[in-house]
Amino acid sequence: MKILGIESSCDECAAAVVEDGRRILSSVVATQIPFHAVYNGVVPEIASRKHTEWIYGVVKEALDKAGIGPDEVEGLAATAHPGLLGSLLVGLSFAKAFAWARSLPFIAVNHMLAHLYASRLLGDNPEPASSVPANRAEVPYPFLGLLVSGGHSIICRVDDFDDITVLGTTIDDAVGEAFDKVSKYYGFGYPGGAVIDKLAQSGNPDAFRFPLPKLDKGGNRYALSYSGLKTAVINQLEQFRCKLAAPACLEFGNSAVTELPNSTAGAIEIARREGADIAASFQKTAVEILLRSLFRAAEDTGLKTIVAGGGVAANSYLRARLAEQRELRCIFPPPDLCGDNGAMIAGIGYRYLSRGDRSPLSVTASARVGGFRRRYP
Ligand code: KG4
Ligand code: ZN
Repeated sequence: MKILGIESSCDECAAAVVEDGRRILSSVVATQIPFHAVYNGVVPEIASRKHTEWIYGVVKEALDKAGIGPDEVEGLAATAHPGLLGSLLVGLSFAKAFAWARSLPFIAVNHMLAHLYASRLLGDNPEPASSVPANRAEVPYPFLGLLVSGGHSIICRVDDFDDITVLGTTIDDAVGEAFDKVSKYYGFGYPGGAVIDKLAQSGNPDAFRFPLPKLDKGGNRYALSYSGLKTAVINQLEQFRCKLAAPACLEFGNSAVTELPNSTAGAIEIARREGADIAASFQKTAVEILLRSLFRAAEDTGLKTIVAGGGVAANSYLRARLAEQRELRCIFPPPDLCGDNGAMIAGIGYRYLSRGDRSPLSVTASARVGGFRRRYP
């Protein structure tokens, strides 16, 4: 069964064709990054307008790349929540119209459940054998889920593709948001996660010691928190600025100096190195916060398999730290399926449609995550 999946919850306009919930026949992701980068964050009004302009072309390209026409699509799936309302409505309405015009089955899906499903997909470009755990697509339930994106951070028990029990979530900011905000304040670039991941590779993760939240008491054993870390890293910015400015200021303070001193280049080099150290130290702490709660959940539940999903699951340090864990089996989607894409929507859409589930065409979008079959225990 060939499902067309449409994703437009944030700033990626994406469509894909997936066969039988596994095999990706095409996946097109049109990113709006350049339009939002100047604002250092997603501007909802720009995002929804771009989706409106691009959605037809993106869907057409996905069908062309899959080598099928609209008449060969057997079902439609689209993200209905969570996300930016104006953006969600574009993809959802397009999918509903497509399904209605061709009398096809349609399902509205939860974006976060779709992120969790991404590791079950097999790419159109075969991955190197070494990077695909033998049965990545077949991991048996139950397992622990680690859902980490720009808007959500969730540790959960997963009993089926649509049956998760949230064990812990963030009490303030999401982990991806912390990456984005730190990057914004330091002027590292946008989007923050990928930029910090790269910058951190040349930095010393032990150069700065940032605080870890104290969350291990009582009912909060798997809770997460990022606002304290974010604030501590941003407070460090003043000293960072002083270092950048100090050598040049000292030279200019001397009235004999009339030209830009060589030390300016030196100051920039110091700032570059210190920026990398801050990125690496922040990233190490951000991952440590996730791992502490995740390991507690693994110990308490006895679940030894962890499946990750969401944009932050692309983080190389997180992947490396989990790969070191001998007693745990950690499954990640390939990096291009960690961020938002249509393939995960088509993939999970197939699971619902093939068991007979349908959404009414009156279904609408929602900003809230909701819709998990099971929530807090
Ligand atoms: O899943 P996603 O594409 O969109 C949402 O559903 O939010 O996740 C986007 C988030 C952003 O916060 C971005 O900075 C972060 O994922 N991200 C990363 C990396 N790549 C993307 N965070 C850390 N390391 C990365 N390599
Ligand atoms: Zn996402």
